[in-house]
Amino acid sequence: MDPYLLGLRLEGRRVVVVGGGAVASRRVPALLDASAEVLLVSPKVAASLEDLAAAGRIRWEARGYRPGDTAGAWLVCACTDDPAVNSAVASAAEQQRTWYVRADDAGASAAWTPASGQAADVRVAVLSVDPKRGDPRHSAGLRDAILDGLRSGALSARHGRKHPAGVAIIGGGPGDPGLITVRGRQLLAEADVVLTDRLAPRSLLDELRDDVEIIDAGKIPYGRAMAQEHINAALVSHAQAGRFVARLKGGDPFVFGRGAEEVLACLRAGVPVTVVPGVTSAVGVPASAWVPVTHRGVAQEFHVVSVHVAPGDERSTVNWELLGGSSGTLVLLMAVERIGAVADELLRYGRSPDTPVSVIADGTLPTQRTINSTLEQVESRIAEEGIRPPAIVVVGNVVNVAAEITELMRHVTALRTG
Ligand SMILES: C[S@@+](CC[C@H](N)C(=O)[O-])C[C@H]1O[C@@H](n2cnc3c(N)ncnc32)[C@H](O)[C@@H]1O
Repeated sequence: MDPYLLGLRLEGRRVVVVGGGAVASRRVPALLDASAEVLLVSPKVAASLEDLAAAGRIRWEARGYRPGDTAGAWLVCACTDDPAVNSAVASAAEQQRTWYVRADDAGASAAWTPASGQAADVRVAVLSVDPKRGDPRHSAGLRDAILDGLRSGALSARHGRKHPAGVAIIGGGPGDPGLITVRGRQLLAEADVVLTDRLAPRSLLDELRDDVEIIDAGKIPYGRAMAQEHINAALVSHAQAGRFVARLKGGDPFVFGRGAEEVLACLRAGVPVTVVPGVTSAVGVPASAWVPVTHRGVAQEFHVVSVHVAPGDERSTVNWELLGGSSGTLVLLMAVERIGAVADELLRYGRSPDTPVSVIADGTLPTQRTINSTLEQVESRIAEEGIRPPAIVVVGNVVNVAAEITELMRHVTALRTG
């Protein structure tokens, strides 16, 4: 018998879950996503379920199942590890004509839970029609493949569905194409026009359909300030012509990315705009070299600084005295060419000459390179090694934690490879 698939609208409707272990921990959050009113019956429950009860998101009766517990339910989930209890719950539900799912015996269930997930406004559910022999990993694998296809745009039903409008300013992450967010990738796949930056994850552009217009904003002439005006104008004019525009940027759009300028330009022209946050290189690039920007007992704060102008330059608004006097981690962007002046300033205001420094170029990309040095020597090391932008400079004792991690990693890898 083939099952009949339905999407249950559970908002405000009672769902009774009996059992509080691993299965219930997976089911309950999905039921809450559907705004169900969840009653959980179990003497003991997993910590995540206890947290949901403490937060008032579910009602938890801390006791064993009793006849009558399923009264008033629209759906019942029997998830204990005791088949006799599950069977009693199922018979009660059957008698009162309520749909029920038994976690331990698909053949004795009135309904089956599909492997499900969501990509933008599409909910995907995959159900094996042979619950006895069907491998749940097969359904989950298929579900993942479909979701991946929808998210990357490889699977789409462009004609016949509502097309998004306006502009999406998308943070693409530090460079590795796997570090863009799911939403960023979905919106990119929907775009008619993509304006991309030099540091955006460009390999994602290969996945776009042939009819998508790609504009390389890094190649717009007129110099920096003018180029931004032209980018804003291009975003507005394409959107006003009815195209959905993705503005793909490196890192996070609002971290030294002029993303807010683009948002304001769109809104001033009456163009709808959305922003998708990204993994900023300020945190993602150090992590890719095992440098934690904070570490208990080592650094309680971190400062992210743009060094696009040198200390002492009249356009600089950075308080180098404060940074020199603090013990927090410094994460310096656009600093490679001005590192000598930065080091002098930090030494002048109190940082020690042997403060560890890490310089990570092309972070998260196959060409990533890291050099470790000290505040006193970093300028000459960068010159010797020929390090070029884009690079992140991290100053502080957290660099030593990376050294410890790297050493242990080497040890573990050696053990595993014999
Ligand atoms: C104009 S800022 C843009 C920052 C971006 N919005 C973000 O959140 O990462 C450009 C600077 O970010 C840093 N950067 C960006 N991507 C990088 C990468 N993959 N490796 C090293 N540094 C990177 C460099 O310091 C570069 O000069």
